[in-house]
Amino acid sequence: MSDRVPAMTTSGQVPMVRAEAVHKSFGPVEVLKGIDLDVRQGEVFCLIGPSGSGKSTFLRCINHLEKINAGRLYVDGELVGYRQRGEKLYELKDSEVALRRRDIGMVFQRFNLFPHKTALENIIEAPTQVKGVTKAAAREQARALLERVGLADKADSYPAQLSGGQQQRVAIARALAMEPKLMLFDEPTSALDPELVGDVLDVMRDLAESGMTMIVVTHEMGFAREVGDSLVFMDGGVVVESGHPRQVLTDPQHERTRAFLSKVL
Ligand SMILES: Nc1ncnc2c1ncn2[C@@H]1O[C@H](COP(=O)(O)OP(=O)(O)OP(=O)(O)O)[C@@H](O)[C@H]1O
Ligand SMILES: [Mg+2]
Repeated sequence: MSDRVPAMTTSGQVPMVRAEAVHKSFGPVEVLKGIDLDVRQGEVFCLIGPSGSGKSTFLRCINHLEKINAGRLYVDGELVGYRQRGEKLYELKDSEVALRRRDIGMVFQRFNLFPHKTALENIIEAPTQVKGVTKAAAREQARALLERVGLADKADSYPAQLSGGQQQRVAIARALAMEPKLMLFDEPTSALDPELVGDVLDVMRDLAESGMTMIVVTHEMGFAREVGDSLVFMDGGVVVESGHPRQVLTDPQHERTRAFLSKVL
């Protein structure tokens, strides 16, 4: 009858994300080979691993940009992309998928701002078009968000007039404008010049402190160590190792983790 998750974490909370034996293939190639993990509410969950290990694919499955082939994936207790009736799964309509996706903010490596819109116009686009927020209210919210990401003076700038780091902070503000309950970051700083990385990580740190649940694919091991609550190392479509970031980074238990870390640390 219900598509709520019966299981809970030991703290009695429904996890923000639960993956159970998640499999994903592209044609004959299996990219995710059975991912099991829980992301608790309010947690900063960092995901690391070599290129091609399936990190982006997993993030895309969480907001149903990709369909999984087997297993179960839940966000805040609801099945991603499906409704369960008894033992049967029914695929959600596009409109229902879109409705659920509104709760999930996504920030990519490339900022994907609308080039012909100002920072403020980028931020008010989704709330006004998708949520029906009035322009006046959306503008007020956008100004507050720009302030929050340290760009109060850039409301009227176009993306081309902003640095990569500033554009990425606008992209974060744009995602937050939808008031998501979960934020997914896919290597948000890896396209940035080194001197611009810090400001973006500071915004992410503030967001973490505000209690946002965040899944962060990153090569920034310093961020993972200082801000992360959990760290997962993926390789070849499986979770090789997970634990507290400091523990995984300083005392990895698996040879594959050690080999990877020796290259990136
Ligand atoms: N749409 C697609 N069609 C076919 N293969 C795909 C598709 N998307 C991803 N893949 C393949 O799936 C595998 C995992 O890709 P994915 O982008 O998830 O890796 P990643 O861990 O994010 O790597 P990176 O660190 O380079 O971003 C790769 O072998 C990739 O070529
Ligand atoms: Mg990727």
